[in-house]
Amino acid sequence: MAESEVTPVDGVAVEINGVEVIAHKGELLIDAAERTGTYIPRFCYHERMKPVGMCRMCLVEVDTGRGPALQPSCMIECTPGMKADTESAVTKKAQDGILEFLLANHPLDCPVCDKGGECPLQDQTMAYGPGESRFVEEKRHKEKPIPISDLVLLDRERCILCDRCTRFAKEVAGDPLIHFIHRGNNTEVNTFPDEPFASYFSGNTVQICPVGALTASTYRFKARPWDLETTESTCQTCSVGCRISIDSSRDQVQRFAGVDIDPVNWGWLCDKGRFSSQVVTSDARLSEPLVRDGSGLVAAKWSDALGRFASALDNASSAQSIGVIGGSRLTNEDAYAWSKLFKGVLATDNVDAQLGDGLPAHVVLGLPSATIDEVCAPGGTVLLLGPDVKEELPVLFLRLRHAAVEDRVTIVEVSPRSSGITSLAAASVHPRPGETADVVAALVGSSVIDREIAGVSAEELEQARAALSASTGPITVVLGRASLAESASITVAAASAILNARPDTTFLSALRRSNVRGALDMGLAPGLLPGRVTLEDGAEWYSEVWPATPSATGLDTEGILRAAADGRIDVLVLLGADPLSDFPDADLAERGLTGARTVLAVDTALNSSSKRADVVLAAAGFAEKTGTTTNIEGRVSTLSHRVTPP
Ligand code: SF4
Ligand code: SF4
Ligand code: FES
Repeated sequence: MAESEVTPVDGVAVEINGVEVIAHKGELLIDAAERTGTYIPRFCYHERMKPVGMCRMCLVEVDTGRGPALQPSCMIECTPGMKADTESAVTKKAQDGILEFLLANHPLDCPVCDKGGECPLQDQTMAYGPGESRFVEEKRHKEKPIPISDLVLLDRERCILCDRCTRFAKEVAGDPLIHFIHRGNNTEVNTFPDEPFASYFSGNTVQICPVGALTASTYRFKARPWDLETTESTCQTCSVGCRISIDSSRDQVQRFAGVDIDPVNWGWLCDKGRFSSQVVTSDARLSEPLVRDGSGLVAAKWSDALGRFASALDNASSAQSIGVIGGSRLTNEDAYAWSKLFKGVLATDNVDAQLGDGLPAHVVLGLPSATIDEVCAPGGTVLLLGPDVKEELPVLFLRLRHAAVEDRVTIVEVSPRSSGITSLAAASVHPRPGETADVVAALVGSSVIDREIAGVSAEELEQARAALSASTGPITVVLGRASLAESASITVAAASAILNARPDTTFLSALRRSNVRGALDMGLAPGLLPGRVTLEDGAEWYSEVWPATPSATGLDTEGILRAAADGRIDVLVLLGADPLSDFPDADLAERGLTGARTVLAVDTALNSSSKRADVVLAAAGFAEKTGTTTNIEGRVSTLSHRVTPP
């Protein structure tokens, strides 16, 4: 049933344009009208931010029993018996007047403005505005455009002072770096002198600016909206799994934009994800396979490269002499295909999608799980035991920030160092590296804390425990690797201490690599087969449907690199992986790559490790194939094919 057909149980009967509709208790008139089929024009109102009533575009005639009067529909809640007229002559005159006022100083830039064709000011002027302007005076002029960061440019002439960008920066991202300055007729949006708009989330302001005042340096003058073809997909830069739209023109990706889905990203993207559109079009992309000859890597025919790839695997002395690292950037479908090739045909279990920076697969898949919504549920308590979410999983940071600031969620952080979330946490303790589990055990335990533990004072520990204990219901834990200098076993020990003390706890795994959950689901981990089944439990079934199955649990990435360094790996396969740059022990990665007899790589571009390969297969990347991906919650969403691979 469409949402507009739902009759709220706690409903408030109001009349909009003579038709009775039932609004939710506390629902804004602008939302109730839209939900029931009447669109009220707006500029400053944004459903994910607090209303401010800045632009007055949403004025409608409202009668609450004292006679009709113009009121901003984004600022008033529906009350019983309220009557609103969005089409009356008075409402239309107000809309007309507001648009004429906004256009008094707005430049006639539409033909050269990136927003032209998808501009709310343009569209609403056509739909609700005056046909002609009475202003003949010179318009206000300002230098255009000025860069306020490497990624965002500001054209102050076009700004209608709607307060969306400034509210987003302060309210949503917590980076109040863009403000209104000056007063009256001179009011403008700007940054502080010498302080660029250095926010990890700056691109969102470009997306929500209702005019062409904020534009992205990566998209300026690249395409016109009517030339764009758009497909919805899922960001694969990290594992949050934000929903995005991909815009392409002439078979080239032009930009990504956030799509609002309730359970994950609410329409927001981080800049890392948004501007990763440039990765797709990068000149560094591989367009053909490479093979090594005497002079280095040279372009080869697909038949030759595939032949060398296959014969290297064929000539491996045993299944145990094949090692496979990577796979977390694949689609679920590709991950299954590689899993079947290595485990079900070549019978090796030396396969690991994680590069020593995650958690053991049985922990990720075996812990009772929580969704992002459950972690951020109003009034809840979250124990953050993982990486700096602002750095690693930025939109999860935005959700946690909103939960803490707006929804009374108590955050307790246990991490060797302070992070982007520390200032929002009710308590934040920083144990010595390697001793996190001791601190967590003390926090969830019931013994009196009368001494310092792991460098954290008894007083700090009591404060953190009090914050955790304030929750009467179950707590949720965001669980990942706070420090790669600590072994994963410390995080596992901490999780186990929590479950022992509070068995109703649920966990959201904060794994960083994009589709690592999907890769684990498809069996790209030692001891696992596709479908979250262990080798032991699934071998019998798989031996009936696959040509082979591994005979014993294999090695993880560290084990594979050690075996390679010792000369026990004939073929090392890198599936979109770069252990030289990403594995925490760079020396071991170097020795592993040197020790492997043959290195095969599959990637979209060369990296430090694949440059050392004997064969490199050029892969289709993001936006170049369809499939599915699985985010940190285990939520499966679609990946779309928008452009042709190079
Ligand atoms: S720059 Fe755009 S979003 Fe910011 S206040 Fe001006 S019109 Fe609004
Ligand atoms: S948080 Fe992750 S999934 Fe979301 S936009 Fe950023 S990189 Fe992409
Ligand atoms: S949308 Fe209501 S005042 Fe701007």
